[in-house]
Amino acid sequence: MKKGRILTGHRPTGPRHLGHLVGTLESWARLQDEYECYFLIADWHVLTTDYSHTQRIQQNIRHVLTDWLAAGSDPERSTIVLQSGVPEHAELALLLSMLVTVARLERVPTYKEQIQELRLEPSLGLLAYPVLQAADILIYRADTVPVGEDQMPHIELSRELARRFNSLYRNIFPEPQGLLSTAPRLPGLDNRTMHASWGNAIYLSDDREAVRRKVLSMYTDPTRIHATDPGHVEGNPVFAYHDLFNSDLHEVEELKARYRAGKVGDVEVKERLARALNDYLEPLRQRRAEIVGRAHLVDDILVQGTARARLLARETMEKVREDMALAYSRGARYKSSGHQLG
Ligand code: TRP
Repeated sequence: MKKGRILTGHRPTGPRHLGHLVGTLESWARLQDEYECYFLIADWHVLTTDYSHTQRIQQNIRHVLTDWLAAGSDPERSTIVLQSGVPEHAELALLLSMLVTVARLERVPTYKEQIQELRLEPSLGLLAYPVLQAADILIYRADTVPVGEDQMPHIELSRELARRFNSLYRNIFPEPQGLLSTAPRLPGLDNRTMHASWGNAIYLSDDREAVRRKVLSMYTDPTRIHATDPGHVEGNPVFAYHDLFNSDLHEVEELKARYRAGKVGDVEVKERLARALNDYLEPLRQRRAEIVGRAHLVDDILVQGTARARLLARETMEKVREDMALAYSRGARYKSSGHQLG
């Protein structure tokens, strides 16, 4: 018996990196044992900020899915959905958009940040971003949504919309709960948060040599100038990585002790990290190579998962139309006259 139903997803903005792996993908892989999982590739959501370079999205969808599969998302146990393949998401989003005010959406923190960053006139689509996200969740009547902290306001809005629908029409939507990742935020190579557009990421598709090169370029302790200076382990991304990825705890303790005493150089600490990290990534890399080696596999998984998801989405929309008394256009008979419309 499963604990409940999960829907979660990513926008296909590019290849997945180590931050995605430790923050979300590893926990998704584990959650599949306990929950019925829907993993969504939210391609329409990409358009809310980037609607002029749409040709890129297709390649990114394949890349994201390849990385998900390599990291353990399992299409045998879970359903992988492409948002644009299930137009019912848009229909539900439209109906839900009637149940929320513009003022409420203008107060969503991610929206406020985006319009400052973009310095553009925001589109209706950007304002409605969290309404579409609520539809993504509610259309599968999911009760659990694993997300990062920044997404919690969107989950809160989804709960409000579910409550509003349930009280106005009929009680069909669970109020979805956010499930916060407990993984620590992974620093990037420059000790800021790992972020594709900041050029500080290690990708799941990087080969051993690329990983080694990147590790050798990592920031360490800025106060340490010579290998004989005592160094700081805390706040040092190289040691944060050792703690996360190096399974040889004895080696990590020894390196920390020598680092604090000024008895080991950065290069040695990094070379050992590169080896440990590459070992950690090895199983993932092998799965990735198998997936890439099987032509059409990724596309087939996407088509099959999306078709399966659509059955459930359709079922939900049937109910929604019934409950909102909108089913008349779908061939339902007028109760009073027995005539059919259209
Ligand atoms: N907004 C999410 C993000 O940027 C992506 C997303 C779209 C999502 N629809 C979703 C996440 C539904 C969880 C549930 O990360």
